[in-house]
Amino acid sequence: MKMSAELIQNLNEQLNKELYAQYMYLTIASYFIENGYDGFGAFFLKQSEEEGEHAMRLFEYMMERDIPFTPMSIQAPPKDFASPLACFKTSYEYEQEVTRSYHALFKKVRESGEYDAEEFLLWYIKEQREEEALMRHWVEKLSMADENPAALLFLDKEARKAAEKEE
Ligand code: FEO
Repeated sequence: MKMSAELIQNLNEQLNKELYAQYMYLTIASYFIENGYDGFGAFFLKQSEEEGEHAMRLFEYMMERDIPFTPMSIQAPPKDFASPLACFKTSYEYEQEVTRSYHALFKKVRESGEYDAEEFLLWYIKEQREEEALMRHWVEKLSMADENPAALLFLDKEARKAAEKEE
């Protein structure tokens, strides 16, 4: 079954969103490492790596289905964060945006009878639920720490453990 031009465009845009997430998390990792928070840095490096895998999964699906890939520019992410909490808030907001776009795409593929794409996209729906929960969890912890240096250093260590556990 041949996919519509609109859905092809949407899949390409979704892949671009994953690449942006990879680049954004790499930028946040650099913010943390440059400011002495190596644990948070490791956490975001791991997130960046995972986003690259999400993009590759989409790419491989497109190649398997003979869906043309369209290269697009990847926007420069922000780096002027006011605090560690701001980094996590930005990440949580972006994950919610990505979830909304997957849901919108899922609705379209379902309405157009693209059952194969529907089955493929289910993995992302679940992944987004987990990623949102992860970022929300860290936003809550960082909010509690309220920029207290001792609490931040403790959470920095916890973030390293979380990054190592996911490997
Ligand atoms: Fe792959 Fe976190 O969006």
